[in-house]
Amino acid sequence: MSEQRAAARDAVLAWYADVARDLPWRRTGDPYAILVSEVMLQQTQVARVVPRYEDWLDRWPTAGDLAAADRRDVLAAWVGLGYNSRAVRLQDACAVVARDGWPRTAKGLRALPGIGPYTAAAVASFAFGERVAAVDTNVVRISERLGLGAPDELLPDDERAATWNQAAMELGATVCRARVVACDACPAAAWCRSAGAVAIPERAPRGSRVRFQDTDRYVRGRIVAALTRDEPLPAEAEIPAERLDRALDALVRDGLVVRTPDGPAIAS
Ligand code: ADE
Repeated sequence: MSEQRAAARDAVLAWYADVARDLPWRRTGDPYAILVSEVMLQQTQVARVVPRYEDWLDRWPTAGDLAAADRRDVLAAWVGLGYNSRAVRLQDACAVVARDGWPRTAKGLRALPGIGPYTAAAVASFAFGERVAAVDTNVVRISERLGLGAPDELLPDDERAATWNQAAMELGATVCRARVVACDACPAAAWCRSAGAVAIPERAPRGSRVRFQDTDRYVRGRIVAALTRDEPLPAEAEIPAERLDRALDALVRDGLVVRTPDGPAIAS
């Protein structure tokens, strides 16, 4: 097993050296830039993240700059990148870093506001060279399909660990995708127990899928967008007051919005 694992890993690393996409966060060792990229990538596709990431770093080049920014500007700059609370927690994490400096291990990074195990491991690995597996859904999927051990067993025990983390993500994003699988293009096919026979997970039937406009997340996004731009909240005809209120309650609970005598406002 361990020989097969090493052979599959070497093949994936060689493949990655050949095909790796040139993504801006792969050209830096700056923990702040890497953190920004990883938080953006949690919700949004690579192609859409690239320009947003570059704009973000132009505007707030360091953790200290982001920590000092007006929260409303931060939320306004996040529009379209997914949950607003991610932007708030990113700023809160940068405030801690600006005060105390960067934790250099995944364990230390996890103590920052809103940094989960995946993001902590990614920053520790890519910025500080810690030998730790960054396990996102792509990596879980390829490990399960390969059948050569858990994600942390696949990790090389030398300086290739960070490259392996990128390579495993790349394989999951481009070849061994959830529903589109290209085993004939896979560098690990020779060692993979699922090669040519991958079980594609069932998708919920069309009629049962919820339109984005019908989700609470959509309503929360509309509210935050309006408040950051000093615009009125969506009218009753568009979003019924009861839904609006429910979303506002959730935003208040999350600490993003406060209710004031003049109406809701972004919490500072
Ligand atoms: N998705 C999450 N992290 C990523 C990374 N570092 N490169 C490409 N896609 C990613």
